[in-house]
Amino acid sequence: MSTPDSPKTDLAVEIRSLTKRYALPWKRKVLVAVDQLNLTVRRGEVFGLLGPNGSGKSTTLKMLLSLIKPSEGEAWIFGQPVDTIEARRTVGFLPENPYFYKFLNGDETLRFYGGLAGMQGIALDNKIEELIKLVGLENGRDRPLSAYSKGMLQRIGLAQALIHDPELLFLDEPTAGVDPIGSREIRDLIVRLRDMGKTVVFSSHLLEQVQEVADRVAIMSLGKKMVEGSLNDLLTVQDRTQFIAQDLSPAAQEEVRQLIEQRGGRNVSVSSPKLSLEQLFLKTVEYERAAQKPGVAKPTNER
Ligand SMILES: Nc1ncnc2c1ncn2[C@@H]1O[C@H](COP(=O)(O)OP(=O)(O)OP(=O)(O)O)[C@@H](O)[C@H]1O
Ligand SMILES: [Mg+2]
Repeated sequence: MSTPDSPKTDLAVEIRSLTKRYALPWKRKVLVAVDQLNLTVRRGEVFGLLGPNGSGKSTTLKMLLSLIKPSEGEAWIFGQPVDTIEARRTVGFLPENPYFYKFLNGDETLRFYGGLAGMQGIALDNKIEELIKLVGLENGRDRPLSAYSKGMLQRIGLAQALIHDPELLFLDEPTAGVDPIGSREIRDLIVRLRDMGKTVVFSSHLLEQVQEVADRVAIMSLGKKMVEGSLNDLLTVQDRTQFIAQDLSPAAQEEVRQLIEQRGGRNVSVSSPKLSLEQLFLKTVEYERAAQKPGVAKPTNER
């Protein structure tokens, strides 16, 4: 049983006062990359770690993977200290700039990483089949990675992170440099991983993308956590109400506005909802792709 001072095993990640300082001797100063960070990630959630360049996201993930040693503080994964074999066994990692052997093809890459994780034989063969399908790389499995696009490299990176069936995934900028369609596919994959019961922690500064998939987020700035919470709580403007209606005439709109004002509503505004640029892009490009097939209707700009 956990006491207030011991880590709780129902938490996928627990971080207490985690700090990383780098000495910069040539500048005669110390850079605090992560500063007294406290954070929890619950089992089964998708957690977005946000922040501008240099805010400490990758450093935090590297400390959770025990790739670098904290200057101060502690962290646990499913209740185990991060530097234990038990903690590492449950974790998969997609680094910010994954380095792969470019002469290996997709299958061989997964076989290589599976071997490193101690897998072999039919179990490994089956896992490779499953992952190639999961990340949609059927057309890349026989091609060397030197011929992969950025989106394909991120997908093989994701498959590599999943090879030993980890419960928790750390993805550092999984959609960086990937076009909106590839990026949507990666986000769909993150949602599918959550549906499979995995916990996913990913870093990004593409806010709209995070908003689409994350249950909870933390925003970092200069190594410090500024906010943490569920997206729903953080983004709901508590004192506003929004109605959306289709086919309401201007006269009816005016009537509704007057009624709201009579009932005490202030600062009433009436407007049409807007698509995000990304939604417009995806709609347009998906239509162009789908138009190759007969019988596809042109999209309207409805949501
Ligand atoms: N090995 C290192 N030596 C010195 N400083 C470092 C080292 N690694 C990271 N830093 C510094 O720590 C700070 C945080 O870096 P980090 O890579 O964690 O940021 P990030 O949030 O991942 O940024 P990005 O969005 O650019 O990936 C930066 O100021 C960076 O320059
Ligand atoms: Mg980074």
